[in-house]
Amino acid sequence: MASSTLLAPSTGRSRFKTVLWISLGLTVLFVFITSEVLLVTDYPMYHAYRLQVIADRQLLIPHTLAGVIALLAGPLQFSSRFRQRHLQFHRVLGRIYVISVFIGAATGIALASGRPGFPGTCGQAAAWVVCTTAALITVRNRQIVQHRQWMARSYAVTFTFISSRVLNLWPRYWSHLGDTLSAVGVIAFTLASLLIVDLGLNWRELTTRRA
Ligand code: HEM
Repeated sequence: MASSTLLAPSTGRSRFKTVLWISLGLTVLFVFITSEVLLVTDYPMYHAYRLQVIADRQLLIPHTLAGVIALLAGPLQFSSRFRQRHLQFHRVLGRIYVISVFIGAATGIALASGRPGFPGTCGQAAAWVVCTTAALITVRNRQIVQHRQWMARSYAVTFTFISSRVLNLWPRYWSHLGDTLSAVGVIAFTLASLLIVDLGLNWRELTTRRA
């Protein structure tokens, strides 16, 4: 893909991006209400998990702050218009995003240590750090197209926090998956997110025959 395409997205692409960000935003809102707000208000189904969250608060506070920063940085960082107009801010926020991912991954691993979900979280954290580091290296090498692609993969892992909680209110999903299935589930969500992003990144090549 030519870098000029990245700088001036077609109307169709920019409409797709708008619809995508609105859908992601609505999903965030849904998960925020059905998972995080209900966790705070002590919804009976979440009670045991709530006690665990309270016990883990010293790690969870930096973890949540880092995760929220990474989550909120996405819409601004992927906006072509914003990037063109405020390149310096894009660079600063990019550095903040990278630091947030590293903090989020390290605290995520620490939170899961000694628990059955540990292997799943390690896989998720590894994907998060690898994609983000690759995005950092490619931008340092001025490989902008590859930088954007690795950032899209990194953000897909950031978004697994949301996607893996969409079904939380469904009791069978929430509490009866079992330890092994939960760990496999986290890895499956991570791999599926990366696959979806890669299908999106190659959409034109997948749907257009070369002349
Ligand atoms: C948008 C990014 C993220 C945000 C805002 C975030 C925030 C939170 C919050 C608020 C909690 C406690 C409440 C809850 O479970 O809903 C939590 C738990 C946890 N997070 Fe994250 N997180 C993010 C991404 C990640 C990632 C990518 C990992 C993996 C490296 C991770 C690992 C964990 C672990 C292990 C726990 C506690 C145990 C559990 O879920 O059972 N988080 N996170």
